[in-house]
Amino acid sequence: MTYKLSPLPYAYDALEPYIDARTMEIHYTKHHQGYVNNLNVAVQEYKEFQNRDLRELLKDLNALPDPIRTAIRNYGGGDFNHTMFWSLMKKNGGGQPNGKLGQAIHKVFQNFDHFQDEFNAVAKSVFGSGWAWLCLDANGKLLIISSYNQDNPISKGYHPILGLDVWEHAYYLKYENRRPDYINAWWHVINWDQAEENYRALIEK
Ligand SMILES: [Fe+2]
Repeated sequence: MTYKLSPLPYAYDALEPYIDARTMEIHYTKHHQGYVNNLNVAVQEYKEFQNRDLRELLKDLNALPDPIRTAIRNYGGGDFNHTMFWSLMKKNGGGQPNGKLGQAIHKVFQNFDHFQDEFNAVAKSVFGSGWAWLCLDANGKLLIISSYNQDNPISKGYHPILGLDVWEHAYYLKYENRRPDYINAWWHVINWDQAEENYRALIEK
């Protein structure tokens, strides 16, 4: 049993003009597929770690055997993060969250604009390659954090709700070095229904 590339839930051009079709195609078929391929190579000799729930493995990296820990962190994280990222965007997305997540954002950040400003600041400040995340901490409080490389917040005890890939491979073809332009565009394609679902799954557990 091997890890499989999860289906992209829309066409490559679905998020145009905010995310261009060529970037989507390369991001999915080369970068995401590459993480899946490398993950399978890494666990070739470790049958009990083949086709496992990556969320469970990433939750406790210390429990993994030494020879495959870094590979699962990087490639398993890369696979898990990208599958989550695709689901959190959609055609005609954007706007503001309604429902329980929207209420929680207003409660913690006062209003949506403050939340957006803080998220943008964190996403812009990632030095090199990484991600910005809206998470719940262990006490159920919303917070915004960044991670480097393909690290996922679940490895630090946080529960991700929404994530933004700020690796250059996510935007360089269209936006070149202008990461802030890419971040601003991303708000137009966020799938808030999925973010709400992620939030509810955490608070209704
Ligand atoms: Fe990526």
